Amino acid sequence: MDEKRASGRYYTRGNPFQLEPFQIWAKASNLAQQITLEPFAGAKDIPQLIDAANLRCPDWALFDIEPGAEGVGQRDTLADFPRGFDVCITNPPWLARNSATRRGLPFPKSTRHDDLYKYAIEKCLTHCGWVAAIIPEAFIRSGLFLQRLHDFISLVPQTRDGATQENGKRGTSYMFEDTEHPVGLALFAPHATSDVKVWRNNQLLGGINELRRHLPQPSCNRSIVFNDPNGNLGLIAIDNTVSASIRFCPPEELKDYPIRVHCRSITKIGVPWRVDIDMLNARLAAIREKTHDVFLTAFKGIRRDGHYRRRLDWGLSRAIVDME
Ligand SMILES: C[S@@+](CC[C@H](N)C(=O)[O-])C[C@H]1O[C@@H](n2cnc3c(N)ncnc32)[C@H](O)[C@@H]1O
Repeated sequence: MDEKRASGRYYTRGNPFQLEPFQIWAKASNLAQQITLEPFAGAKDIPQLIDAANLRCPDWALFDIEPGAEGVGQRDTLADFPRGFDVCITNPPWLARNSATRRGLPFPKSTRHDDLYKYAIEKCLTHCGWVAAIIPEAFIRSGLFLQRLHDFISLVPQTRDGATQENGKRGTSYMFEDTEHPVGLALFAPHATSDVKVWRNNQLLGGINELRRHLPQPSCNRSIVFNDPNGNLGLIAIDNTVSASIRFCPPEELKDYPIRVHCRSITKIGVPWRVDIDMLNARLAAIREKTHDVFLTAFKGIRRDGHYRRRLDWGLSRAIVDME
């Protein structure tokens, strides 16, 4: 497993290239006339998926530090990126810097990014005009490379009939063989874009600027204290496996939970005024509905209603409590 982690090697499964936004991107990038670069090609899954999505791509230039199939050239493309390609489609290596440190794995010294996939995207964007990359879903909350980001698709596992699943894991085809890590497909253009279209599979959720307008003003009111054992407001900050269940609650409901300093999922909050819990939950529900959860971190595991489980971070919780 660690060997796999060292080179960030999780192979792509499922076929996000059939989705409408990708098909539009493929036309705009003139894929049918290009030699396309896959700089982290592994076992050549991406060319096969492009074929299976009935897209024409006349030729590929394929590289990997550890080639997994014939026709893939051996090359450290992070250190020596191939030049002369306008279109790049890839699933770059993912490896968080802190995970590399913890496991004693090497991490490039030439970057300040906190994950290898960000460094890989930076390289692709420096050398190629059109870039499509399968990356963690969390990327859309990083604020990075937004200038050239045209579309971001949150890839939610689907049942064979194309609907997001309704009943647990049955019928699900996950994107990856070894992980259910939430993933997205980022589509970049050579020119600056005015807004980023955010999608959930084929469903357009909205432009990122428009979605952001439904967020409360950020708050830095430090008199709202998290993990306060005597707090007057409870918060269950992660969804259960069934539905969108994050909620504020009376602190008495959490009396059996020890409040731990590092706990990010269940907490008591000290608010120096009387709180209206129903009103806070109504605010939260409205924000979730209008932003389609784009700004809430997704984590491993799909809810029974077919969506990723989400976490509400302290920053957004504070802003909701502190809204006028
Ligand atoms: C997430 S896998 C994706 C493989 C393939 N793109 C796919 O979708 O099936 C990432 C790949 O990046 C390769 N890799 C990691 N570091 C690399 C480097 N410095 N130069 C070239 N390839 C690298 C790994 O060997 C691995 O095959």
